[in-house]
Amino acid sequence: MEQQLNALRQEAEATMAQVAELESLNDLRVKYLGKKGVLTGILRNMGGLSPEERPKIGMLANQVRDVLEELFSLREAELKQKARADRLGREKIDVTLPGRIFVQGHRHPLSLVQEEIEEIFLGMGFQIAEGPEIESDHYNFEALNIPKDHPARDMQDSFYVTEEILLRTHTSPVQIRAMEKLFPSLPVKVICPGRVFRKDDDATHSPMFNQVEGLVVDKGISLADLKGILLEFARQMFGPERQIRLRPSFFPFTEPSAEVDVSCMLCGGEGCRICKGSGWIEILGSGMVHPHVLRMGGYNPDEVTGFAFGMGIERITMLKYGIDDMRYFYDNDLRFLRQF
Ligand code: PHE
Repeated sequence: MEQQLNALRQEAEATMAQVAELESLNDLRVKYLGKKGVLTGILRNMGGLSPEERPKIGMLANQVRDVLEELFSLREAELKQKARADRLGREKIDVTLPGRIFVQGHRHPLSLVQEEIEEIFLGMGFQIAEGPEIESDHYNFEALNIPKDHPARDMQDSFYVTEEILLRTHTSPVQIRAMEKLFPSLPVKVICPGRVFRKDDDATHSPMFNQVEGLVVDKGISLADLKGILLEFARQMFGPERQIRLRPSFFPFTEPSAEVDVSCMLCGGEGCRICKGSGWIEILGSGMVHPHVLRMGGYNPDEVTGFAFGMGIERITMLKYGIDDMRYFYDNDLRFLRQF
């Protein structure tokens, strides 16, 4: 048995030195020292030894086991180290290789134009106000002087959630919310960008679109102030040569009301395809805030006056970039979006 143990030690040492893979090393460990390994196999015959021989052989067996375990660990560390060095050797960085090009995302045209509109009005001293997209009948209609059976409700075919709750059909409810919040301070000078919803769907109408509302309330505000602010806006947005004109119109929440046209940015007013030969293009609705609306916002119409306007961001963007179908904005076609 002594010979068997010494032979085992020699054989194990020799094979271990030749092994080049961590995995095969593990196999060897199992083969020699495992529960069903060679060493255990030899020791199974201990029963046949004389009582004097037994402790001697037991000691030798323990020695062989310890030596081999030690060798296995050393060899394992060696092989691991070698594998690491190999990998580092292979992982050379070739700094002359062309870099990986990351496709960078960019802003949506509607976001760009909304920001541009905001910048223009912030520059004229306006604050930005916001309101909820899910609105009550009170703010969306009632407080804006559009009572229940008013025919003006047909102008804006609405998505109702319940009888009293709907998706706002315009940003005008934020007029009331802003006045309620700011009262009694003056002036009120806010713009309110946001999503609005109507049952419309064609090349120039979408069931969801974006508006920017404007509201100014102060002592002595007149139609001339409205016209001055909107002329400045039109020039910053569409070019310093632009003119605007106000056409009489109707909104229940403004009196008088006006639709605002800007001189055609393509032909400058001569008449072309874009302006359908008229030289003018409608860009927004506006008017002097109706006394009832001022009152609903908490202000006294005998003391203050105001003007308001509302424009569609999609429409402004289409005019600015010559886009002829609103659906491009929502299709997420990269060939379209990459142009901005
Ligand atoms: N709310 C109107 C619309 O959506 C636009 C508007 C706003 C008109 C403010 C006048 C004053 O059509």
